[in-house]
Amino acid sequence: MKIFGGVPLRGEVAISGAKNLALPALAATLLTEDLCTLRNIPDLSDIASMLDLLNHLGMSIDRCGPNSISLRSSVIKSITAPYDFVRKMRASILVLGPLVARCRKASVSLPGGCAIGARGVNLHIKALELMGADIAIENGYINASAPNGLFGCNINFPISTVTGTENILMAAVLANGTTRIINAAMEPEVAAFADLLIQMGAKIDGHGGSIITIEGVDSLHGTDFTILPDRIEAGTYAIAAAITNGRIILRNCKYNHLMQFFETLRLSGIESKVITKTSENLDDVEVYRAEDIRPVDVQTAPYPGFATDLQAQFTTLMTICNGTSSITENIFENRFMHVPELARMGANISIHGRTAIVTGRKQLIGTQVMATDLRASVSLVLAGLMANGKTVVNRLYHIDRGYENVDQKLLACNAKIERFTV
Ligand code: EPU
Repeated sequence: MKIFGGVPLRGEVAISGAKNLALPALAATLLTEDLCTLRNIPDLSDIASMLDLLNHLGMSIDRCGPNSISLRSSVIKSITAPYDFVRKMRASILVLGPLVARCRKASVSLPGGCAIGARGVNLHIKALELMGADIAIENGYINASAPNGLFGCNINFPISTVTGTENILMAAVLANGTTRIINAAMEPEVAAFADLLIQMGAKIDGHGGSIITIEGVDSLHGTDFTILPDRIEAGTYAIAAAITNGRIILRNCKYNHLMQFFETLRLSGIESKVITKTSENLDDVEVYRAEDIRPVDVQTAPYPGFATDLQAQFTTLMTICNGTSSITENIFENRFMHVPELARMGANISIHGRTAIVTGRKQLIGTQVMATDLRASVSLVLAGLMANGKTVVNRLYHIDRGYENVDQKLLACNAKIERFTV
């Protein structure tokens, strides 16, 4: 993407459905033979990857509207998630729980490392073993079998894991007896995911909190479910408004999912206010810079803490603050890949272990930079939108994993950008 920086972004951005809810929701349709319809599914390459995998497993898939998909897995033709699918997208691990629950066996390629860290799946495996599955790691695959089904038990996650909690929710809804997940992930996507399972007939209590209780049932049924808005996308466009000294209205987001984030923005001089509440309980939020950007120290943490998925974007914002800010990444060990690229644009950042110290300057200077992962790619686009002159972000395809229609959304806010392929 070629970006001519320095133009204040003004306009409206309709927030898309949350990728990190849509992915487990698609996987959850493996739990029933019935037809499921999922709405507000964002058009992203990660969603396409998940649909390819589900199709490989035997799912029939129909697009029944611009962002609506009908899925039915009357029969599961394969219980194997091959390496070629999993290497493209780690969230493929989300088919492990439902396959073991429904078919009593599964073979899922180990995801391996990724750009932002090692990201093990040991906690998913250990929890399934506690529920009675026999698991062997063979030739790079997790081979799980539970010939007598899974059994409810207490699962105490030593660290909060989002997809781990979701996988065990899916395993537990069809297990014999009661499962208690202790130190469950409390992200809004996890709570909404439990709501989807409840709509399919599951018995779940305590979701949204740190202890979730699931009473196994014999079967689940089909449903029609709408994915909630993507809080990370909303937070990203909020920073786009602030960093360019513009004003953006985020249409159809959930303000309360971003409360802490907007509070952090407020501390740095950026205002956000709900201007309309829709009948679906969604909010239109106006975001603009009210003062010079002040330094704010942040530490990433599981929800309701500062989201790791907004850390790269916030780091970019801090490159033009009037002081020094410290940003600590506590979730992933390698999530500062954007920092050397921002430094090439003139940012003053040094990394000390898990902490980046950012000393602001007036403006960054456009140049060629390289995206390494989804959130790093968007943080470089944000840098380009604010920088003096022309920025070219290479390997931008990472952005299509998590930002629907990003070019059109930015262009609609007057951004001077051009996407091209070399
Ligand atoms: N972890 C383990 N073992 C496990 C599971 C997790 O060591 O078995 C560690 C991870 O390595 C990490 C920490 O626990 O250090 C938390 O990881 P978590 O499992 O919560 O991450 P995830 O489920 O793989 C989801 C999102 C990520 C988001 C994280 C944290 C999806 C599909 N992905 O990943 O989203 O960063 O939670 O909130 O929901 C993104 O959208 O850019 C993205 C990376």
